[in-house]
Amino acid sequence: MSTTVAKPRAARPTSEDDITAEVLRRVEATPDPRTREIMLSLLKHLHAFIKEVRLTEPEWWKGIDFLTRTGHMCDDRRQEFILLSDTLGVSMVTDLMSNRKPAGATESTVFGPFHREGAPELPAGADIATVDRGGVTTMVSGRVLSLDGKPIAGALLDVWQAAPDALYDSQDNSLEEMNMRGKFRTDSEGRYLVRTKRPVHYQIPSDGPVGDLLKATKRHPWRPAHIHFVVSAEGYEPVTTHLFDSIDPYLNEDAVFGVKDSLIVNFEEHKTSDEAAKKYGIEPPFCTTEYDFVLAPAKAK
Ligand code: BEZ
Ligand code: FE
Repeated sequence: MSTTVAKPRAARPTSEDDITAEVLRRVEATPDPRTREIMLSLLKHLHAFIKEVRLTEPEWWKGIDFLTRTGHMCDDRRQEFILLSDTLGVSMVTDLMSNRKPAGATESTVFGPFHREGAPELPAGADIATVDRGGVTTMVSGRVLSLDGKPIAGALLDVWQAAPDALYDSQDNSLEEMNMRGKFRTDSEGRYLVRTKRPVHYQIPSDGPVGDLLKATKRHPWRPAHIHFVVSAEGYEPVTTHLFDSIDPYLNEDAVFGVKDSLIVNFEEHKTSDEAAKKYGIEPPFCTTEYDFVLAPAKAK
């Protein structure tokens, strides 16, 4: 008969601080330095948080249930984890640290959960409002420029926004097709032109766990009116950004903290058949707005 003799070992952890120390000790050997740094810090802060609030077992279960429901809410049309990150300000803190731009370059903001792959590339001036949901026709124009003011020809603008009924196409169960989305290329002078509807403020989806959390913390779900853009060009850093309507009442109250002063634009209201009406061949009332996107050069690899 053989007997196994246990190797002598350090004292078994008994207190909550012993467990924290033991968890950290086991992660110490993580080979990838960045994974090691992130895991050690995450565990240190997570354990400190649990001890600081003296988390109870029912509260722990509630947290597990919250994360489980968040996962179950995700599919190809809904990304509840991004929404959670956005509403907790985590997306914007990450954006601010990751996307510091040189002076003069267009600032970035949240990507959000409503981008869709496969929007069609459209000719300049094409209307992205392909399904009628009302709203005020709006022409968005401008240039894409380098930091030294040179026009960038062939830059790609991926544009999307909520429809005037305050829903993205992916939230509208009556729609199979894409609506309020398109890609546009700049011409030889770096110019772009998008026909759309004036954006409206809208509520982020609040029928899931993120909405429950907003309600529990007495927060509202409104985002100020905006149009999304990803602007990219060969040899330049792409920028993920929005243009916000300067008269929106939620500019200082964005549920996801995405507003930057440099991204606020005026939507000029045209009520008579003026020069712009003739130029674009549209009946008033309509709006125009202009914005030049400025791209920073790509970082050397
Ligand atoms: C959006 O603008 O599409 C958005 C961004 C963050 C959370 C929800 C929506
Ligand atoms: Fe949006």
